[in-house]
Amino acid sequence: MPAPNTLGIDFGTSNSAAGIAVAGRPWLVELEPGQTTLPTAVFFEEQPRRMRIGASATQALIAGEEGRFMRALKSLLGTPLLREERRLNGERINFIEIIARFLREIKTRAEAATYQEFTHALSGRPVRFHSRDDTRNAQAETDLRDCYLAAGFQDVRFMYEPEAAARATVPDKGLGLIVDIGGGTSDFSLFRQQDSGETEILASYGLRIGGTDFDRRLSIDHVMPLLGRGSAIRNAFGLGTLPAPARIFNDLATWQMIPFLYAADSRHKAQDLASNATEPTKLARLVTVLEDELGHDIAFAVERGKIQSNQPDHPAPRIDLKDLERGLMVPLTEAMVQNALATQVDEIAAGAAETLALAGVRADQVDRVVLVGGSSLMTVIEHRMSQLCPEARIHRENAMTAVADGLALSAATAFD
Ligand SMILES: Nc1ncnc2c1ncn2[C@@H]1O[C@H](COP(=O)(O)OP(=O)(O)OP(=O)(O)O)[C@@H](O)[C@H]1O
Ligand SMILES: [Mg+2]
Repeated sequence: MPAPNTLGIDFGTSNSAAGIAVAGRPWLVELEPGQTTLPTAVFFEEQPRRMRIGASATQALIAGEEGRFMRALKSLLGTPLLREERRLNGERINFIEIIARFLREIKTRAEAATYQEFTHALSGRPVRFHSRDDTRNAQAETDLRDCYLAAGFQDVRFMYEPEAAARATVPDKGLGLIVDIGGGTSDFSLFRQQDSGETEILASYGLRIGGTDFDRRLSIDHVMPLLGRGSAIRNAFGLGTLPAPARIFNDLATWQMIPFLYAADSRHKAQDLASNATEPTKLARLVTVLEDELGHDIAFAVERGKIQSNQPDHPAPRIDLKDLERGLMVPLTEAMVQNALATQVDEIAAGAAETLALAGVRADQVDRVVLVGGSSLMTVIEHRMSQLCPEARIHRENAMTAVADGLALSAATAFD
């Protein structure tokens, strides 16, 4: 039987890409004009009724068009929220269908670009979608499979994302460690390469920590207090005060939870808090954010601030909250960011060390560390990895497409 036509797809928390091998080299589809990666974002536009994806979805949000924006959908895989039906643009829909529509659009664009039909998919997956919960991990893969089938693929196989990246590295003899820090997860593969360029995977490991968790931490620590997090609320039934419940603020700081906060019950909750607030100015901001649906604008502002703080030549890194209130902003120093993220960075370093332990390899035996994924651009990550593997060269080849490149290279043989 001839091999089925298989598309390699890196469905990322923040960015996605797709491709095939052409003459033994990875070839990625131009998913948007001039771009081989596109933001994993959707926008349900009200007029005309349609779902926009990628940069176009983000533009609709920024332009303030009527509709519902969503990002970090991958983080919902394996959770009960994924299969809950909700009303969107007048139809009942769950997140399986939303992700399926996103994947179907990638399939369609890939088919238009290559003049062929893709019946099968080779998809990347994090080593662990959920750090500690095996049932959720298995459920997350089942969920993602269902999304691919609903998108019109007859079958899908999965490959660990860091393993795909290892298969796309420039061949170099010795021991290598892929450190892929993305939007939702951190993934590691230790591999050995021979002179022939053949790649052997020795161990893979992963954690549910990524750039969206960095954003969440920075938002909880530095933005949510301005909206009333931790602020005293008068007890409606008696004397005294209690701190505002953390839940609503934690959800507002979490990319994938933001759309759920625009339901009537959350808005009422915010109004209730505001009317009993001892610091009404702060809680009034929370009400505005939910009423005007500014949650994603704030999350983007936090993400931009995080990236600025990571640029040594940036004149004034800050979280700019002007969409919420004129002049409102949080100056960010590199030290503030490093403090806020210290625990998460420690866990990532421990994850890398655990990968080596699984393979019985000492850190000083690693010849090169290959940094992959947007969050590996954080200077603190690079610094920790060179501390961990002191003898290793630090590489950063095609960091944003290495996973997709590896899936593209492996797609044709995925169903052998
Ligand atoms: N210059 C930068 N400095 C720090 N972080 C950055 C930078 N550029 C992008 N990021 C972060 O990288 C993350 C996205 O990386 P990437 O595209 O590799 O993720 P992904 O592949 O979609 O996610 P995952 O593999 O975890 O599902 C975002 O959280 C983004 O804020
Ligand atoms: Mg990734």
